[in-house]
Amino acid sequence: MSIHFHEINGRYPILSLLSANRFITSDQIIQKLGLKQVEVEEQIRQLKKNGFHIIRDEVKGFRMAFYPDHLFSSKIQKGLRTHCIGKNLYYYLEVDSTNLMARRMIQEKGAILEEGVVIVARKQYAGRGRLGRQWFSPAGGIWLTVILLPLLPIPDLPIITLMTGIIVTEAIRRLYRINVKIKWPNDILFQKQKVSGILTESGKIFKGRNWVVVGIGINLNTEKMDFPKDLQKKIISLKGILGEELSEIDFIQMLCLQFEKYYEKVKKKEFSYILNRWKELNATIGEKMIIDTGEKLISGKAVNINSKGALILNDHDNNLIEIISGTILEDINPNSY
Ligand code: BTN
Repeated sequence: MSIHFHEINGRYPILSLLSANRFITSDQIIQKLGLKQVEVEEQIRQLKKNGFHIIRDEVKGFRMAFYPDHLFSSKIQKGLRTHCIGKNLYYYLEVDSTNLMARRMIQEKGAILEEGVVIVARKQYAGRGRLGRQWFSPAGGIWLTVILLPLLPIPDLPIITLMTGIIVTEAIRRLYRINVKIKWPNDILFQKQKVSGILTESGKIFKGRNWVVVGIGINLNTEKMDFPKDLQKKIISLKGILGEELSEIDFIQMLCLQFEKYYEKVKKKEFSYILNRWKELNATIGEKMIIDTGEKLISGKAVNINSKGALILNDHDNNLIEIISGTILEDINPNSY
């Protein structure tokens, strides 16, 4: 999809009437533009196909919920060297959450959805973090979601979360030579400060096929003062580390490239490759810690990780405990409340 805003504007006159803060009925559109009902329907259909997020209310009519920025999308896509990830890419100025946008797209498109769609937003006003937390996403960060339709059974899906930690780490290391590491389950840290967080969500689509939305938040050019005080010491942006403004386009392109590379491995079920790479890049194994599982606190030394994404902890009685989900205490999930 590489269509420019002025092209779109000329092709779909309805755009000039749709607004974010009020509804307009089909009758009003017909009257103002002298169109037929079928033409209105067709324009709305085409706009939706081009990433415009239009809400329809039976009584009140249409409202434009989110505008895509086609110029920016096409700039990203121009230098993209992937076949699948990012071939369909939608860039929005502001959305509630790119993961929510992705979930809505899956619902709407169903069987015609292609995998590898990337949804990027400049800002999110309802960003979602792990464990139901809110994720703070001001301008300057990269907030994006990749839609996958993996031919994998549900028990294999956690490998995708591990894969994503590697992808983000690789993209940062390759572009900026910064030594970031993965903290279990999926935070990307620079010297104990959080640079990035990952939220994968999954469900069933059609014919038993699963969908996975991979949400990635990166503090690229974010400024500390744009975050609440209590988060400021727990996070750092790549710009903060390097002392210069970084290109969002370069980063998204590199991320898509790494994504495609590692997703190929997952599709071929090369899970041990993923696990080994994760182990090379992590900062958790070998550390002593207390983990909050939501039900209890468990302390011990992290000794391994398995393909379910679970951390293996050696507790004080020398038992090996498999922890599927939890938070390592002491720096409780920056960027989120
Ligand atoms: C975490 O709690 O560490 C995970 C944070 C994930 C944030 C990203 S930003 C893009 C995508 N959209 C969301 O609403 N959340 C994820």
